[in-house]
Amino acid sequence: MNDTVDNPFFARLWTVMSSREPEALRRLRAENLAGLTGRVLEVGAGTGTNFEFYPDTVTEVVAVEPERRLAALARDAAAAAQVPVTVDAGTVEQFTDSAQFDAVVCSLVLCSIDDPEAVVRQLLSVLRPGGQLRYLEHVASAGTRARLQRVADATVWPRLFGNCHTHRHTEQTIVGAGFEVTDARRQWTFPAWVPVPVAEFAIGVAVKP
Ligand SMILES: C[S@@+](CC[C@H](N)C(=O)[O-])C[C@H]1O[C@@H](n2cnc3c(N)ncnc32)[C@H](O)[C@@H]1O
Repeated sequence: MNDTVDNPFFARLWTVMSSREPEALRRLRAENLAGLTGRVLEVGAGTGTNFEFYPDTVTEVVAVEPERRLAALARDAAAAAQVPVTVDAGTVEQFTDSAQFDAVVCSLVLCSIDDPEAVVRQLLSVLRPGGQLRYLEHVASAGTRARLQRVADATVWPRLFGNCHTHRHTEQTIVGAGFEVTDARRQWTFPAWVPVPVAEFAIGVAVKP
């Protein structure tokens, strides 16, 4: 297992993409973080696009981002955030803070982790009982798009997009780790007929029993 991510191509690409997000995605980010309180762990923060959406009821965000170019941008975003954010430059797998968190935030990241089942179990372990996993992830679709996703995942997509996999059953992974999903829905960011592998998002709240 690596303890950093070194991907200059993806870092450049994501820096551009995350600075020009459609309003629909920004609304989903705000929805994903609404009502959070206390101490939060954010997994794979990228350029820190979420930071501006944390409500002021959050007392601290510990953000993990292993790609050093993205971590540098996340630190800039942290300095401008309305809540205290620190950026830890390692992978989530290496993260060893033993204090319990009130919430964990994952957005557009469980697609890029090598072993999402193991990481989601790890996230369960760092939450206090009753703590929440807030997730906003693109997920496996059905039918023709599922076939497109499998082809994308077996060919260029993960190489182009920082190990991103489009055909992941992330909600099943979350439930399988032991979370109870209390609120969840699917949202299309492109019309269903547009032939792109990443179009269907899952957004939800999962609670540690
Ligand atoms: C598509 S970007 C999404 C960034 C951010 N979560 C967002 O919503 O904009 C995926 C991020 O996950 C990070 N990442 C990849 N593997 C990781 C790991 N093992 N631990 C933590 N972060 C990881 C990448 O460096 C990248 O910044």
